[in-house]
Amino acid sequence: MTGPLVAVTRAVDDTKAVGAALAALAQAGDIVLLSGDLGTGKTAFTQGFAAGLGVTEQVVSPTFTLARDYDGRLRLHHLDVYRLDHLQEAIDLGLAELTDDGGVTVIEWGEVVIPTIPPDYLEVRLSYGEADDDRVVELVTVGVRWQARVRSLEAAIGPWRGGT
Ligand SMILES: Nc1ncnc2c1ncn2[C@@H]1O[C@H](COP(=O)(O)OP(=O)(O)OP(=O)(O)O)[C@@H](O)[C@H]1O
Ligand SMILES: [Mg+2]
Repeated sequence: MTGPLVAVTRAVDDTKAVGAALAALAQAGDIVLLSGDLGTGKTAFTQGFAAGLGVTEQVVSPTFTLARDYDGRLRLHHLDVYRLDHLQEAIDLGLAELTDDGGVTVIEWGEVVIPTIPPDYLEVRLSYGEADDDRVVELVTVGVRWQARVRSLEAAIGPWRGGT
């Protein structure tokens, strides 16, 4: 891929819809890393992603628990590693086993744990756009798993395509 795929959302429901559209492409063992400043919509994206997996339970921010699991078409592991102080804590979380149990793992502030996971994941970078409720959503594939689906990713975010 030459550069990130870029989507622009104009409301929280758009970001949820992007998450849901990407969830339709998710396969067992996938990892999605969410990066972006406070309040850019990582949890909102995950809520949409969960809905796209058919999760009916309400998805809440796992900030104080680090990890929560939800049942859907695939099991969803939702982590928020903002509070991790040391890489050792990420290792202790057992990410390798989590990502290997047939579910899908979505990690907020995921860039922190990159050294502890296989170099094969979708990175979703969220940032603030021009207007208050605008968000820029950039997709970067790392490794072959998501790269193989890059055309589907492109199609999935079609309604919100922006930037380059
Ligand atoms: N286009 C948009 N996409 C996503 N969220 C939006 C958008 N416009 C406004 N918002 C608001 O921004 C906030 C995003 O909060 P959210 O908890 O999803 O962010 P976060 O990145 O998970 O934050 P944290 O870093 O605290 O975990 C919500 O209050 C949501 O309503
Ligand atoms: Mg959050």
